[in-house]
Amino acid sequence: MISNFETLSFSVVDEVGVLVVNRPDKLNALNIQVLRELKGALTELKSAPIRGLIFTGEGEKAFIAGADIAEMAPLEPGEALAFSELGQLVTLGFESLPYPTIACVNGFALGGGFEMSMSCDFIFASKNAVFGLPEVKLGLIPGFGGTQRLMKIVGERRAKEIMFSGRNVTSDEAKNLGIALEVYADKAQLMSEAQNWFKTTLKNSSVAIFKAKSVMGQGLIEERKMFGDLFQTEDMVEGTTAFLEKRKAQFKGKIL
Ligand code: COA
Repeated sequence: MISNFETLSFSVVDEVGVLVVNRPDKLNALNIQVLRELKGALTELKSAPIRGLIFTGEGEKAFIAGADIAEMAPLEPGEALAFSELGQLVTLGFESLPYPTIACVNGFALGGGFEMSMSCDFIFASKNAVFGLPEVKLGLIPGFGGTQRLMKIVGERRAKEIMFSGRNVTSDEAKNLGIALEVYADKAQLMSEAQNWFKTTLKNSSVAIFKAKSVMGQGLIEERKMFGDLFQTEDMVEGTTAFLEKRKAQFKGKIL
């Protein structure tokens, strides 16, 4: 399945998928091929037998250094619109995966790279991570959902400041701003801590995590409905029964 793509690699460790953009000679810049392959991979990943996803870039220098400027430069307006739509579909694809996702950011996460990382549930960063939306330096704006997502994460004023200046945000500042959840010494530690996070979190009910993820941002009516739905699931019966019987829950419920 996902292993057939030219610019992506995919593996599974303990029910957690690891999806890697593999174009290190161009700092994993997102050209149309990478974006198309990501779109295809995300469609497959939606129903893959995994319970979490780590998304990262190949090599030590960059997560993703942005959309591919060489490919973007000659685009006509109509083609640029399609390029932006494709990028937005990819970020929406990450956002709608039915399990938790962590972007492991090592090195540069600029422009479209930062935008991809923001569409994952969390960002774990290494010390050398650099975030930024430098599009204004190219006479552009973020086109893969970054204007909206950054505002949601850091608030309107700070998002404007980062976007209008196009400046770099260090890993420590990213943590202070709530962009990165954690900062680790290097890429090896970053990857192993992401796996550890899943080891702990996936002891919880994947069904309930999926519902919690779906409901965030959708308002109280949806929350009430999801809450009610969960009362028909084996996981809810097991979770509450185990608590009352003072034992650890053994969750087995399927998402779909
Ligand atoms: N699009 C296309 N190619 C890119 C790229 C991008 N966004 N980012 C890096 N590359 C390519 C470089 O052109 C270079 O290719 P080459 O070896 O064939 O010349 C290769 O990746 C290595 O990058 P280089 O610039 O030599 O590395 P560096 O360490 O000197 O600088 C950056 C690293 C990230 C500061 C610099 O590459 C950069 O500014 N990239 C663009 C970032 C950006 O504006 N992103 C938003 C795009 S909308």
